[in-house]
Amino acid sequence: MTTPTVPRAPERMLAVEITTPGGPDVLRPTQRSVPRPGAGEVLIRVDAAGVNRPDVLQRLGNYPPPAGASDIPGLEVAGTVVEVDASAARWHPGDRVCALVAGGGYAEYCVAPAIQCLPIPPEMSVVSAAAIPETFFTVWTNLFKRGGLQPGERVLIHGGSSGIGTTAIQLAHAGRKGSTSLPWDGPLRGVPESDGGWRVAGPTAEPFSDVYPRPAALSAADIAAIVSAFADATRRALDAGFDVVEVHAAHGYLLHEFLSPLSNGRTDEYGGPFVNRVRLCLEVVDAVRRVWPDARPVFVRISATDWTGGGWDIEQSVELARALRGRGVDLIDCSSGGNVAAATIPVEAGYQVPFAERIRREAGVPTGAVGLITSARQAEEIVSSGRADCVLLARELLRDPYWPLRAAAELQRTVSWPKQYLRAAPAGSPAREPLG
Ligand SMILES: Cc1cc2nc3c(=O)[nH]c(=O)nc-3n(C[C@H](O)[C@H](O)[C@H](O)COP(=O)(O)O)c2cc1C
Repeated sequence: MTTPTVPRAPERMLAVEITTPGGPDVLRPTQRSVPRPGAGEVLIRVDAAGVNRPDVLQRLGNYPPPAGASDIPGLEVAGTVVEVDASAARWHPGDRVCALVAGGGYAEYCVAPAIQCLPIPPEMSVVSAAAIPETFFTVWTNLFKRGGLQPGERVLIHGGSSGIGTTAIQLAHAGRKGSTSLPWDGPLRGVPESDGGWRVAGPTAEPFSDVYPRPAALSAADIAAIVSAFADATRRALDAGFDVVEVHAAHGYLLHEFLSPLSNGRTDEYGGPFVNRVRLCLEVVDAVRRVWPDARPVFVRISATDWTGGGWDIEQSVELARALRGRGVDLIDCSSGGNVAAATIPVEAGYQVPFAERIRREAGVPTGAVGLITSARQAEEIVSSGRADCVLLARELLRDPYWPLRAAAELQRTVSWPKQYLRAAPAGSPAREPLG
């Protein structure tokens, strides 16, 4: 094996410095000494540098470099290793790397901590590689270090907001409705463990229907483990920076299965009378609330009725909503159905709004209305008449992701826009401020 010959770094190099705070014209080429790698560092001959928001802020004078960091901007580089400190021996001169640095990337040479370097995949250009490290390390830190994701675990990434919006996460346990085929993969069927499925569990061993897997009845210890899993998930959601957490207690998933007498035939303290059937839901909400800061909202989604005689209904929903309000829940998100396969549901525009209205009025808690809300006027009527405190849209937002902007224009309301997009906004639109 031959080691590639890498020319030694010269004494001086070309770099880009910020002469004074301002626009792009304050960036000037200059001559600087080539930095030398300190303990645990490598020296990289830079072929490409990433451009990040902090570079622009630094140029504007709003982001002083951290103590000890170079005053030269540039937080991501890609190029070739030319020198290696003895304690950074996992890298060798000639290695193609991209790296996250504390500054100094807009230069011909840059030092980087060895642990913040990544190999550039052979098929990737050096220019593309220079845009990788910041995102890679952010995702890696959030998912693996802070979130504790383990090999073999699966993760659902619901969405991201690039720091300009509000993010909410829904925490759910699918209970006996889990381990099924994908909805778009033909008729729904249970998926066995041998095919990537998992053992499902519920309040009893009764399956949701013939095509769903047969669950195992949860023991008291299993239930306690699920409550603490909700707390752990909440902690990870907090670490990941979500603003709102919603507990899913609807649609026939685990918590709803415990609520409804039609799916909960247990004879222990989690089954039987109302106070026992709501126990798991309340324990989960308490566990979530203990972790989630008071200043951030907790929502709970319920199915206000099973649409089936003898099942969960609106009266019990009102009672549950009162209990949830007393436990620090900020909003009840009022959906319905999903727990009885054969239920007949009178689906029509706004058909679940009466549930939101009644729970709001009788339990004295803010509610969200959901289900076949599609037009701006319909949404406005629901909120302005006091039937619900907000509306939640699903399919209409998939059809028209800019629905809120269209609705605002149609109702002649001014809404805030991300300040990066203000040039496209109607005149007078204010810039969006992040939640405190
Ligand atoms: C593609 C898709 C995914 C959904 N995922 C969830 C979910 O993860 N959690 C949930 O509570 N409801 C989920 N729903 C249900 C919606 O939140 C909503 O309650 C339902 O679609 C009725 O509202 P709509 O008429 O505005 O679509 C989903 C709906 C759709 C169409």
